[in-house]
Amino acid sequence: MRTLRLATTNRHKVEEIRAMLEGVPVELLTLADAPPIAEPEETAETFEGNARLKGRYYAARLPDVVVAEDSGLEIDALGGEPGVRSARFLRPNATYPERFDEILRRLGDLEGRARSARFVCAMVAVRGADVLFETRGVVEGEIAAAPAGTGGFGYDPIFFVPALGRTLAEAGDAKAAVSHRGQAVRALVRWLTELK
Ligand code: IMP
Repeated sequence: MRTLRLATTNRHKVEEIRAMLEGVPVELLTLADAPPIAEPEETAETFEGNARLKGRYYAARLPDVVVAEDSGLEIDALGGEPGVRSARFLRPNATYPERFDEILRRLGDLEGRARSARFVCAMVAVRGADVLFETRGVVEGEIAAAPAGTGGFGYDPIFFVPALGRTLAEAGDAKAAVSHRGQAVRALVRWLTELK
């Protein structure tokens, strides 16, 4: 069985990716099973750049095939913000309700497609210095008028998916079927299958 080291310290991402890989014959290790490694600074200006940066950083320190991802929310009316700075938006330790308030305030009374946004997930698999696999998953949606739902994490309560008629925080298992991360993990599984 192939072993993958999932290099993220975000427990929500780990939970989602682990659930998505259920039934796939891979052994999924995380950073929690490895000696502590200081986190790299995410200095790139693109999701792909940061995913590669994290993948290469951990692959240089671990013997495994490292899977890393960088993800975030792009809101068109805010010029693509929070984008690669999604985890740090407003200030690094701001609560998500505080971030929702700020985003909803900035969007004001814009409606429908004027509130267009997308979640992006850039994912890489790296061994040593080699990027073996790279993909990008995207889910298009709109910023809801108000937060709704208690599932998921991060910006899910304000991300309305027209195809579902719900926010991602209300989507339950349907989140994996449509999400940026779900698409990226399905591409990863296809790559793993083709390797055999
Ligand atoms: P990263 O660790 O730099 O990739 O930060 C990703 C950030 O983007 C997270 O901390 C969340 O704020 C946001 N984000 C990424 N994926 C999701 C998702 O599936 N739902 C909600 N927020 C997300």
